[in-house]
Amino acid sequence: MSDAGSADPAIAVVVGASGGLGRALAELMVESGAYERVVALSRRRPDGWEDNARRAWAAVDILDEDSIAAGARLVATLGVPIRIVVATGRLSGFELKPEKSMRALDADALRELFAVNAVGPALVAKHLLPLTPRDRSSLFAAISARVGSIGDNRLGGWYGYRASKAALNMFIRTLAIEHRRARPNGVCVALHPGTVKTALSAPFQSGVPDEKLFSPERSATALLQVMDALGPGDTGGFFAWDGAKIPW
Ligand SMILES: NC(=O)c1ccc[n+]([C@@H]2O[C@H](COP(=O)([O-])OP(=O)(O)OC[C@H]3O[C@@H](n4cnc5c(N)ncnc54)[C@H](OP(=O)(O)O)[C@@H]3O)[C@@H](O)[C@H]2O)c1
Repeated sequence: MSDAGSADPAIAVVVGASGGLGRALAELMVESGAYERVVALSRRRPDGWEDNARRAWAAVDILDEDSIAAGARLVATLGVPIRIVVATGRLSGFELKPEKSMRALDADALRELFAVNAVGPALVAKHLLPLTPRDRSSLFAAISARVGSIGDNRLGGWYGYRASKAALNMFIRTLAIEHRRARPNGVCVALHPGTVKTALSAPFQSGVPDEKLFSPERSATALLQVMDALGPGDTGGFFAWDGAKIPW
């Protein structure tokens, strides 16, 4: 994807690069050599991620729009983002527990999940999508979750996480429609990474068969292959780690 013919270096951005998946995605994108530089945006510096000619980092809290805007300004000074992946997310922790029943619905917990899983990524898109090129292909992907599919919801439960990811999916679909008007080669999608061994899924991994529990590297490798294969006709879609389309 690197574009030697352009004056502006083609770069990649990973938001949430301190997380299990975000870290693996950022590292694999550096190793791919497809980008002049990979910019990690996260609340804390990803482990082992030193700033150099190929890597940069800036502190970004997706709950703070000013920090997203500052991160976008840094990105604009470094090059033109042709791939942006938003790998932030929240499922549980502290007072947050996925709800097993409607009795467990709690307004503060729902607000927190919507803020991190839907509003934050939408604001990231607001500040980073305008930096993508008009005359070259680019891809913006938000890591969603299959449980955010309304059509695929057969088990119930996990109200807040499901609903916040469904809201994220709607943001992505709506952003894709607006984005393609000015950037017909700009792709905007939601992705499901599979069940991945990270801090987010740690409390829920028991009972998941080994072959269905991916390492972050395995999932990130699969997701990058899916992203590489997507084109303008796929914009506004929701895809799994194996490239299969997921119903909304
Ligand atoms: N793991 C799975 O099985 C699985 C399955 C389906 C979907 N997903 C999705 O995959 C994505 C990546 O999750 P993961 O499994 O890699 O989990 P993870 O290791 O817990 O990473 C979550 C990331 O989100 C970041 N984050 C949370 N709130 C933030 C905020 N306000 N501002 C900036 N960053 C914030 C965390 O930053 P800090 O390091 O600062 O906390 C961390 O980098 C999420 O969207 C998740 O919903 C995961």
